[in-house]
Amino acid sequence: MQIQQNISLLPYNTMGIDVKARHFAPFTDTDELSQLLEVQPATKPALILGGGSNILFTKDYDGLVAKNEVKGVNVVKEDKSHVYVKAGAGENWHSFVEHCLQRNLAGVENLSLIPGNVGASPMQNIGAYGVEIKDVFEELEAFHIHDKKIHLFSLNDCDFGYRESVFKRRYRDQFVILNVTYRLNKTPRFNTSYGAIEQELEHMGVQQLSIRAIANAVINIRRSKLPDPQEIGNAGSFFKNPSIPAPYYQQLQQSFPGIVGYANTDGTVKLAAGWLIEQCGWKGVRRGDAGCHAKQALVLVNYGQATGKAIYDLSEEILQSVKTKFGVTLEREVNIV
Ligand code: FAD
Ligand code: EPU
Repeated sequence: MQIQQNISLLPYNTMGIDVKARHFAPFTDTDELSQLLEVQPATKPALILGGGSNILFTKDYDGLVAKNEVKGVNVVKEDKSHVYVKAGAGENWHSFVEHCLQRNLAGVENLSLIPGNVGASPMQNIGAYGVEIKDVFEELEAFHIHDKKIHLFSLNDCDFGYRESVFKRRYRDQFVILNVTYRLNKTPRFNTSYGAIEQELEHMGVQQLSIRAIANAVINIRRSKLPDPQEIGNAGSFFKNPSIPAPYYQQLQQSFPGIVGYANTDGTVKLAAGWLIEQCGWKGVRRGDAGCHAKQALVLVNYGQATGKAIYDLSEEILQSVKTKFGVTLEREVNIV
């Protein structure tokens, strides 16, 4: 295990931000992780990095950046209806989805092509096209950075919500997720109701529904509107879709008949933040190398040399204009460091 000093994090974040980490090292198991944490100065918590696809670095990191490279994908249990697969936190998420598709294990096909690694999937309960990680989550193991023990978290322990978990809130910076066990279905329950999936399946000429067909449809939709981080720096949706009380939604509908909202089960309405941002005139706007994506206003992009601060400042302007026009406060989804 080698700790590098003052190295650029440019290759390690999909936003393409060039900042430096004071210390940087990968780890592949708990022994290496414990050793790393020993040398880590107590002044700043270690930053655990996966694929760097949900992070905006706004300045150099004056501490240890530890890249989780815990590997392995194994079946750990099986019953009549399910196969339980345990994956190392450092496994690439989409490769894990592909692993399931190849074995005809259902449940994660709607989550195809989400960038990043397995270890971050419970952090914000990743979700897309009507499915969230909580729907297939069995348990995870995480290393506590203070007591140095491995803790087991069940579904109930994680407090999953929309882009939320206990690891983002109560236990922030306290646990390093080592592996996640997912409960996959032997018999698929197809979920095609969300967004443009059915339309895309029809367009593809799919006669017989399968998890592979759904995965391909999701991949096509994602490729058509989300920028590829290999080509343009981005971290997916920059903000969450905000929920507001139903009476306020009805009031907004009077002034903005085109407003896009979906009823939540708790009586609130979730608004499409992309629509709010587009209505404020931001879609396609570019400030130097920082910009608001031309096909998806919820995605902020780095055309090359933008600093994290420039992207953050743009996000602040967007947030303020949405607040002024609609009286709705957006919350950033991307982790600001
Ligand atoms: P990182 O960015 O490396 O880390 C994210 C956070 O988790 C950081 O705070 C980090 O410290 C912490 N962390 C990471 N790994 C660990 C660990 N093992 N233990 C403890 N803490 C850890 N997200 C969705 O939910 N749905 C989408 O549809 C979606 N689409 C996207 C599309 C694009 C083009 C991009 C670029 C991003 C998209 N995202 C989406 C966001 C992102 O892919 C997910 O949040 C993903 O789970 C992040 O994984 P990562 O490994 O890159 O995490
Ligand atoms: N819309 C606009 N203008 C835009 C963008 C969107 O008007 O520029 C409106 C459209 O009416 C559209 C609606 O917003 O129908 C929803 O847009 P889309 O289907 O693209 O989804 P989203 O709400 O913008 C969310 C997630 C994505 C996830 C998709 C599919 C959040 C914050 N984002 O985006 O997740 O992939 O749904 O499920 O919940 C991410 O978290 O990084 C991410 C990409």
